[in-house]
Amino acid sequence: MALFSNKSRPAQVDFDHLPRHVAIIMDGNGRWARKRGLPRTAGHGVGAETFRTIATYAKEIGLEYLSVYAFSTENWKRSQDEVQAIMGLLKKYLLEAIGQMERDRVKMEFFGDLSRLSPELQELCQRTREISKRYEGCQVNICLNYGGRDEILRAARAWQEDCAAGRARPEDLDESVFSGYLFSKSVPDPDLIIRPSGEVRTSNFLLWQSAYSEYYFTDVLWPDFSKNDLLEAIAVYQKRSRRFGGV
Ligand code: IPE
Ligand code: IPE
Ligand code: MG
Repeated sequence: MALFSNKSRPAQVDFDHLPRHVAIIMDGNGRWARKRGLPRTAGHGVGAETFRTIATYAKEIGLEYLSVYAFSTENWKRSQDEVQAIMGLLKKYLLEAIGQMERDRVKMEFFGDLSRLSPELQELCQRTREISKRYEGCQVNICLNYGGRDEILRAARAWQEDCAAGRARPEDLDESVFSGYLFSKSVPDPDLIIRPSGEVRTSNFLLWQSAYSEYYFTDVLWPDFSKNDLLEAIAVYQKRSRRFGGV
């Protein structure tokens, strides 16, 4: 069973049986830049372009959901310059996305605590979400100031508040009720989670939702990640045997 990619053969994808939901940890921007003697922010710039390419391609091949990890609850630990540069790129990306929405027709959602973002960015996220609501086809979930543990804690608090207010009852709590309190409510769990950059960890991504996700790791750095790398990941996924605890 391939845990890492095997580049020796071309990707053979069965397009009639695609995973419904693919999630990607967009990692490796800094190392991509360092290898070229460029500032880390240059890597984030190229990474944003890669995201655009992959999101468009996901829609083209017919994926229903694509979730991408863009900024974690832990990424605030980085230098102020780097955080500011990432937020600046995000603003640029959203403005362009809004401008091209009629062409791309991708439905965009945001997972994460947006309240820590600047009011301007929050407004842009809200606007993107509103305008793209009517599109059908591919839904792209951008995980921003997202942390799996944070998401679970928020859900627990919100559920507790509903109990206190009489809107929910402790005896009714089950997995499906709890899932309804997560950012990902109404989105099926990811079938496939891809992590480029050579790191083999989740870094707090979709902790609840990934219980039975298939993982695919590759050494490719995110700015270099191509459509073919996506196909390769899907091809490997399609060879896996998913048992969900059964036989
Ligand atoms: C991912 O690339 C982008 C973010 C986490 C925002 P990194 O910036 O983590 O790149 P590396 O891991 O340092 O190469
Ligand atoms: C995960 O990458 C977060 C994103 C890609 C947004 P990190 O670079 O933050 O993860 P670690 O620090 O290597 O675990
Ligand atoms: Mg990283």
